[in-house]
Amino acid sequence: MSVPLLDLRAQHTAIRDVVVEKMMKVVDSQLFILGAAVEELEKQVAELSHTKHAIGCANGTDAILLAMRALDIGRGDEVITTPFTFFATAGTIHNVGATPVFVDIDPKTFNISPEAIAKAITPKTKAIIPVDLFGAMAPIEEVQRVAKGLPVIEDAAQTIGASRMIDGVKRMAGEVATIGTFSFFPSKNLGGYGDGGMIVTQDDKIAARLKRLRVHGGATQYFHDEVGYNSRLDALQAAVLSAKLPYLAGWSAKRRANAAFYDKALAGIAGLTTPYIAKENESIYNQYTVRVERRDELQAYLKEKNVGSAIYYPLPLHLQPCFSYLGYKKGSVPEAEKASAQVLSLPIFPELTQAQLDEVAGTVRAFFGK
Ligand SMILES: Cc1ncc(COP(=O)(O)O)c(C=O)c1O
Repeated sequence: MSVPLLDLRAQHTAIRDVVVEKMMKVVDSQLFILGAAVEELEKQVAELSHTKHAIGCANGTDAILLAMRALDIGRGDEVITTPFTFFATAGTIHNVGATPVFVDIDPKTFNISPEAIAKAITPKTKAIIPVDLFGAMAPIEEVQRVAKGLPVIEDAAQTIGASRMIDGVKRMAGEVATIGTFSFFPSKNLGGYGDGGMIVTQDDKIAARLKRLRVHGGATQYFHDEVGYNSRLDALQAAVLSAKLPYLAGWSAKRRANAAFYDKALAGIAGLTTPYIAKENESIYNQYTVRVERRDELQAYLKEKNVGSAIYYPLPLHLQPCFSYLGYKKGSVPEAEKASAQVLSLPIFPELTQAQLDEVAGTVRAFFGK
């Protein structure tokens, strides 16, 4: 049996009519950019994330870029982040003119290490960008503690709907950071039918600035207070996402159930470590990522048996050719480098059948002779 890493068609088949009906309302209105459909989604996302504001934008990359612009981050500034993430987290730091400062991760969770952040703060540090990797929130409250008042931008591109207990209260992804950012790239746990992004914040001033920045920096059309961007969420994407949002909690529960199955089925294999989720966290398992010493061999074996898998991420950002100007050497961020050599993500999408789950776990076990 072949098992894809992700099967978007399975989800589409189940919700097609609901989504198409909502899309057709936008088509009939002929209002395609921002407007009522986007406002409806913004309201839904703010509610889900427990935030005062949610501002739609073109994609999750722009969400981070706009967040930094709203905090006046630019030339001469340093922004601390993790190198074990998708490129956009750091590409945007470069693109606002600031310098990415890469610090190491907690090898158990793969998320940024607050202790490493504390050591990297300098008078030039303007913000910190933790990433909620693979579906589990980074320890935002610990990041905030070491940040000592510096703004924290939570890159929650992979993590909408996840939560973490902080001081006895369940906090949502994006809720407690200065600014939280989401991506609706189609393969995400909440994916559009194209690109899309969202920024959340509790801060009125930041929200007003973000609303300007996404439309070329002008609160009034054709009058520009500052130079912004064209980064609007289009209404068709908003309609798709609004239609899908009510299903998100159910999909997340299914992802967690799939993860619980793998955790059990793959327990006790020497040379393989199942994901560690801190007890405070409720992960939405955007990815189910194991650590394997013979990772490349296992991936080749899975491929031969038609089981999908992926490596997120094979080369940490501090070693990317485009960042060679920063001067990081191999070995300078060791846990991130080790993770890049060992991680492998397995199929985790909500619509996996029991037979498919058995196939994935059975194939992995067979590789290890179990
Ligand atoms: C951690 C992280 N940050 C940022 C992004 C960028 O989002 P987008 O592809 O919507 O620009 C992604 C996803 O692609 C991501 O996984």
